[in-house]
Amino acid sequence: MGALEEIKARVNIVDLIGRYVALKPAGKNYKARCPFHPDDTPSLMVSPEKGLWHCFGCGAGGDAISFLMRIEHLTFAEALAKLAQELGIELRAGGEGKTRLFQVNLEALRFFQRELRGPAGEKARAYLLSRGINESLWEKWGLGYSPSAWDALLRALSRFGVQTLLDLGLVVMGERGPYDRFRHRLIFPIRDEQGRVVAFAGRAFEGEPKYLNTPNTPLFTKGTVLYGLDLAKEAIRRKGRAVIVEGYTDVISLHAAGIEEAVASMGTSLTADQARLLARYTEEVVIAYDRDAAGEASSLRGMFILHAAGLRVRVASFPPEEDPDSFVRKAGRKAVEEVLAQAQPFHEFFLHALASRHDLSRMEGKEALLREAQGFWPEIKSSVLKLEIIHGFSNLLGLPPEEVQEALRGVSRPVPRAEEKGEPSLTPEDLVVKFLLEGKVPERVVAELLAEEGRFCPVYREVVRRWAERWAEGQLPDAAALISGLSPEAAARVSRLLLLELKVANEGQALEEALMRFLYIPRLTERMEEVKLAIKDAEERGDSEAVRRLTLEFQRLCRQRLELLRRR
Ligand code: GTP
Ligand code: MN
Repeated sequence: MGALEEIKARVNIVDLIGRYVALKPAGKNYKARCPFHPDDTPSLMVSPEKGLWHCFGCGAGGDAISFLMRIEHLTFAEALAKLAQELGIELRAGGEGKTRLFQVNLEALRFFQRELRGPAGEKARAYLLSRGINESLWEKWGLGYSPSAWDALLRALSRFGVQTLLDLGLVVMGERGPYDRFRHRLIFPIRDEQGRVVAFAGRAFEGEPKYLNTPNTPLFTKGTVLYGLDLAKEAIRRKGRAVIVEGYTDVISLHAAGIEEAVASMGTSLTADQARLLARYTEEVVIAYDRDAAGEASSLRGMFILHAAGLRVRVASFPPEEDPDSFVRKAGRKAVEEVLAQAQPFHEFFLHALASRHDLSRMEGKEALLREAQGFWPEIKSSVLKLEIIHGFSNLLGLPPEEVQEALRGVSRPVPRAEEKGEPSLTPEDLVVKFLLEGKVPERVVAELLAEEGRFCPVYREVVRRWAERWAEGQLPDAAALISGLSPEAAARVSRLLLLELKVANEGQALEEALMRFLYIPRLTERMEEVKLAIKDAEERGDSEAVRRLTLEFQRLCRQRLELLRRR
């Protein structure tokens, strides 16, 4: 058994996690509040049986080592060393052992490089050439090929012992013994900033997965390396910026075209470790992902992480359907330099990425946008960036900055049911009027409400009428304008309504619920009463055709009503 397996087998995950959070037994498992996000219910689950943990709140999870890495901010190797020490297990990978492991990885690389040039590598060579990656680039990037046999590398490197190959992730233990992890794949060695081979990525020619990577090993922790940094660091210093792309081939093609400050995040979203690594060489990064990928939440998260590490972040937009690799080969270095020069400041990009996903001509669209933005809020560490984003959204949405800020902070307000002591709780009608006066009702619904203003009590009807007049002129009237001229009792009712702070987590949902009870369900119920009377009428007339039609209509309304009630 290797040291890693021994540690995994012997560490007691419940003891380990129990040092950081209070675990309570729950059946076969244990539960606790998750230490990785604000958690008021215990969402963290630990399974001693499986040796795993998972948070159902924030989605984090893994084994004992990953928990230790995360909570103590350790690399894989550091977490392993800590556990090994506690358990009294000797780690052969420490110090001298590590040098040996690097040596073995280098031997593996030489093997893959030889195979690329040998008879088995014919298809791989043709593939690389077809993508414009010529022999001098194979050398520079250490590209290789892993043959199809299940044991090619295993045999070639057997002198180092199977356990070492397993530890390095080059070989996998199957039911019938060890076999090569990489088979019939193009090999990209992953090197740390000093140029030492820490891992490999293998690209399939067809089929899934497209890329296969070395798992975490004593030499490699996912998310701590940037592909190409060993060859890019000089240029990054010289040019005062790094260009971050997604893929291995993007890095290779950009370097070949003379853009040598390019590095790749390797598919996963950027981590704080990677951001710190970059911040050692430069203050500015340009994100050069393909268009769709850049706006994805995981990419945006990575950009916030870069920003939090003190980097100036800009985002380049390539033409649709192009990635840096395809674009630079088609359009050349100058065109790429232009796209990079025009990269948008991150906060602008963020605003537009979110805005493009919502229909901002409607209140629902604005609300949905703010809800989405709210998800990023805890990740924004800089108050300057926060202000910039608040003002950006305020302009974009035509809402006052205070309102935007409140929405982004996700301030929770009273549940209408649990109002301040003594005060009667708000009726659905109160809520609808409040939301309406505050401009929070979608336009389509406003029209419906105005068409049925007879549903409002006389005081509210008067206020709603005044509000609607100004609203039709395109302005949101202030409270004073609405209240002026009302009787004191009526004015008091309306101002109370306007000043009450709602503590609802989700205003959209509260409005929906209130509309249901004030408008939709009563309207349906009335309609059903009408149809019932009409059926009786038709029966008396002996009009069986009308009875049949009306009965169907009644059934349809019944279903609608059920549907509405179920949605609540
Ligand atoms: P080409 O398609 O050959 O140009 O490769 P690429 O490197 O441009 O790949 P792509 O743009 O599809 O993905 C970008 C990066 O995401 C890759 O370089 C990998 O690091 C990562 N990636 C993509 N697919 C996979 C996968 O199936 N598994 C893993 N582990 N990583 C992947
Ligand atoms: Mn690509």
